[in-house]
Amino acid sequence: MDPYIPLRFLTSILIMLSISSASSYEIQDSFPTCVSKHSINHINSISTSFYTSKSASYNTILNSTAQNLRCISPSMPKPLLIFTPLSESHVQAAVICAKKLKIHLRIRSGGHDYEGISYTSELKSPPPFILLDLAKLRAINVDIPTNTAWVQAGATTGELYYKIAQKSRTHGFPAGLCTTLGIGGHITGGAYGPMMRKYGLGADNVIDARIVDATGKILNRKSMKEDFFWAIRGGGGGSFGVILAWKVKLVKVPPIVTVFTVPKTLEQGATKLLYKWQQVANKIDENLFIRVIIQPVVKNTKTGERTVQTSYNALFLGRANRLLEVMGRDFLELGLTKMDCMEMSWIESVMYFGNLPRNTPVEFLLQAKPPFKNYFKSKSDFVKDPIPESGLEGLWGRILEEESPLMIWNPFGGMMSKISESEIPFPHRNGVVFMIQYLTNWESEKVLVSKRYEWMRNLYSYMAPYVSKYPREAYVNYRDVELGMNNKLGNVSLKSASKWGMKYYKNNFNRLVLVKSRVDPQNFFWHEQSIPILSSWK
Ligand SMILES: Cc1cc2nc3c(=O)[nH]c(=O)nc-3n(C[C@H](O)[C@H](O)[C@H](O)COP(=O)(O)OP(=O)(O)OC[C@H]3O[C@@H](n4cnc5c(N)ncnc54)[C@H](O)[C@@H]3O)c2cc1C
Ligand SMILES: *[C@@H]1O[C@H](CO)[C@@H](O)[C@H](O)[C@H]1NC(C)=O
Ligand SMILES: *[C@@H]1O[C@H](CO)[C@@H](O)[C@H](O)[C@H]1NC(C)=O
Repeated sequence: MDPYIPLRFLTSILIMLSISSASSYEIQDSFPTCVSKHSINHINSISTSFYTSKSASYNTILNSTAQNLRCISPSMPKPLLIFTPLSESHVQAAVICAKKLKIHLRIRSGGHDYEGISYTSELKSPPPFILLDLAKLRAINVDIPTNTAWVQAGATTGELYYKIAQKSRTHGFPAGLCTTLGIGGHITGGAYGPMMRKYGLGADNVIDARIVDATGKILNRKSMKEDFFWAIRGGGGGSFGVILAWKVKLVKVPPIVTVFTVPKTLEQGATKLLYKWQQVANKIDENLFIRVIIQPVVKNTKTGERTVQTSYNALFLGRANRLLEVMGRDFLELGLTKMDCMEMSWIESVMYFGNLPRNTPVEFLLQAKPPFKNYFKSKSDFVKDPIPESGLEGLWGRILEEESPLMIWNPFGGMMSKISESEIPFPHRNGVVFMIQYLTNWESEKVLVSKRYEWMRNLYSYMAPYVSKYPREAYVNYRDVELGMNNKLGNVSLKSASKWGMKYYKNNFNRLVLVKSRVDPQNFFWHEQSIPILSSWK
């Protein structure tokens, strides 16, 4: 046996290691140098905006907005470098320099991506990357006389709602229920919330944007042209450029709104009631949004025996007396009483839906701190015909099998069905009765994750007969990489991407590909589910 083989083997490993660490080391050096050279302001302070894994605050910054703990577990890929720009010009420089140094960029605003693709990767050997974290670009400018607001990408939904409410009790914005979503990423996928039946999505209410394109230029609605502006309102984050800010249209809210949460267990007739809800939820008065939160609860503390609880959780844009009239006419079966109703200001309802305890001061919204973080896997579906009671019965069995599952059913209809499927890339419109979100949560690194995934996949196949078909639609803001992934940096198969692309965007996918091919022909803005370019078709 040749005694030199192990030695040669070792030498080549050492060479490989030194090459890869030399190049990462180089990027950690050359990227900041390049960025300072290309930035027009803050030249002195910028050096404190770069973090390598050796920096004391690297993990704190990386973890700060990562909402899914699964995606920051030790085995997940981590950025070579984190850069937190302080100005628009820094973002331009980051794009120009990443391109020049051929290093992949991941863009993060609020860090709520379900698969963490704004700061990690689910691929086996992903390309090394720099995290461009927009958390420091979070200015908000609300202008009541024109009913508009400019909001920088790193601001959260909660901060926007707070700033609006500070200036007016009768203005609001129709976006997500969670108060720590980054406006930057949230609106790129649609952004639904409790006012969607009256006003549509956040993305339906955007009137202008500032974006850094693949050449490093800043564009607004006028200079980017309408098909580019169309694509960024619902075509998913991280495909077309870096959103710097959105200009949004504010909507009217009454000075007093009403909320309620009414739980019903299986023993209290949950199955029949949920069947009825499916017949009214998308047709009832569009000032009323009643979603259903479904999870197991313990019914016998001695034996630990569980049952399924369905919670009817609602916002009504009006006062309780009027709400009781609407319910009496269209959904008497729930048995809503005046006692169940709480009247409050719109901003208090924001806190209520954000799961913040009743006496939390509204200023808490400015801290942009989520009330909880956990490990989770999720999927989504759209339902077009009520699920029969027999289908619900089978569902209960599956819910009771899993340790910590959760389903949220969100009603559509109203304004959602009046906007055409191609108005913006978000295509789930007329005919959708409700959207389902499936979740399984866990609280420790030690859990057997494969079991959770398996349960979710089984549930997803069980639901197939009851949900949308050809394609089986999915919500891009509930990203699910099991629907498919782009394989390698810059190498995207249009054919395989259209599998998940059609689910997220239906026929709008084709137009998104055309826009992408025009505005980013080199596919610089790439990630596991970014829109592919035409020339990558094989
Ligand atoms: C607890 C929780 C509650 C939620 N509730 C709702 C809800 O009520 N309604 C709803 O519609 N959705 C909801 N979502 C989903 C949410 O809308 C998406 O996760 C959304 O993408 C979050 O945006 P982000 O900026 O926080 O996320 P990020 O993780 O920062 O980004 C998400 C995606 O957008 C890209 N991106 C981020 N910033 C930019 C930018 N500036 N320019 C270009 N691309 C960018 C990222 O690369 C990534 O692809 C919820 C999510 C969580 C975790
Ligand atoms: C960041 O999160 C990881 C994974 O949950 C954890 O191991 C680590 O201690 C956290 N670090 C900081 C500084 O928060
Ligand atoms: C792109 O991916 C395909 C399929 O995985 C592969 O055959 C092809 O060689 C790749 N091309 C490049 C340029 O990496």
